[in-house]
Amino acid sequence: MKFIAQPQISEEEISLVSSTIRKGQFVEGKNARTLEKEFAEFVGAKHAICAVNGTAALHLAMEAANISPGAEVITPAFTFIASANSITFGGGIPIFAEIDPETFTIDPENIEKLVTPQTKAILPVHIFGLPCNMKLIKDIADDNDLVIIEDACQAHGAKIDGQHVGTFGEIGCFSFYATKNMISGEGGMIVTDDDDLAMRIKCLKNHGRGPSGGYEHHRIGYNMRLPDPLAAIGLIQLRKLPSMLEKRKRNAEAIRQVISELNSVSEQKIPKGYTHSHYVCAPVVDADKYSVDTVIQQLKTKDIASRRIYALGCHKQPTYLQGIHEWRWSKFVKYPDYSQVNLPITDRISQNHFEIPIHPGVTEPEIEMIRNALNEIFS
Ligand SMILES: Cc1ncc(COP(=O)(O)O)c(C=O)c1O
Repeated sequence: MKFIAQPQISEEEISLVSSTIRKGQFVEGKNARTLEKEFAEFVGAKHAICAVNGTAALHLAMEAANISPGAEVITPAFTFIASANSITFGGGIPIFAEIDPETFTIDPENIEKLVTPQTKAILPVHIFGLPCNMKLIKDIADDNDLVIIEDACQAHGAKIDGQHVGTFGEIGCFSFYATKNMISGEGGMIVTDDDDLAMRIKCLKNHGRGPSGGYEHHRIGYNMRLPDPLAAIGLIQLRKLPSMLEKRKRNAEAIRQVISELNSVSEQKIPKGYTHSHYVCAPVVDADKYSVDTVIQQLKTKDIASRRIYALGCHKQPTYLQGIHEWRWSKFVKYPDYSQVNLPITDRISQNHFEIPIHPGVTEPEIEMIRNALNEIFS
């Protein structure tokens, strides 16, 4: 069990990729359109629009929502750097909020404290596949006239009371990166119910073209299209997603059960009515009793892959401590001094979590082996 993540690819994906290539269908086309249609149905959104990766999806979302230079966007620091960077690309300012110590997701109370007249949006991140508290986040957004762009890059299949993440805010973004719950290798998807936003996103991702394509360009745009052979992988993966999610759930629940019986180690708490999509299983140790580095080493000697996935919150990354001063927008935008950002809960969770494999390729005997290892290490 050397790998934290492992793509689950079968002959079905291989066959659709090869027939797509044989037909000479390399650029975004028929497979992408079918993937969009089926993804929109899966999450229950009016529009789904493919992008070349999750970062591009977030970038397009920010631009379509008019996050302009100097606009503040509140987001957690406990996330992959792409969440924050998607704000920074177009001159927006990431304002890092604290997370809840039990769920590890953005703390709505802290969001409220960070709202200023410059705040334009909230970017909640459904970290590890657990939905953020979207009810409270929506209340804050409504009270302050803010846009919500959901970073659901880790959360395909996550829900609150049956409603899929990505559909609570104005825009939701997903990643199909090779480790995710469903993959296309590299790939992403943007969902929205808003016709205008959908049109802007389609235009922005395709060199500013209108719906009829061709060589008439209406605005500055990018090439962020998803190649059709990759959309082919995504399409088959989407159809297999429910069964892959079931296996993740089986594996995660078995691990969570053993963790719940141990002292000095805890797991993300799942609020009532929330469906975790189990992208990452990363328990947190009590640093007074255990060293997480030792735990990771002990697991590795038992042939169990383990790591700290985000040892540094975004506010502690060199990108925001130093690199930001070199960034093109720094001549025009006043960034906060990120070295002064104080997020003790984020720091504690970042430093003391250890990820263990729960992907659908992990077998029941392997899960039993992990359970035994955890029992040995923590009792
Ligand atoms: C929370 C989060 N946001 C954004 C991204 C960016 O997605 P991608 O790697 O597809 O660009 C990822 C993917 O790793 C992610 O985990």
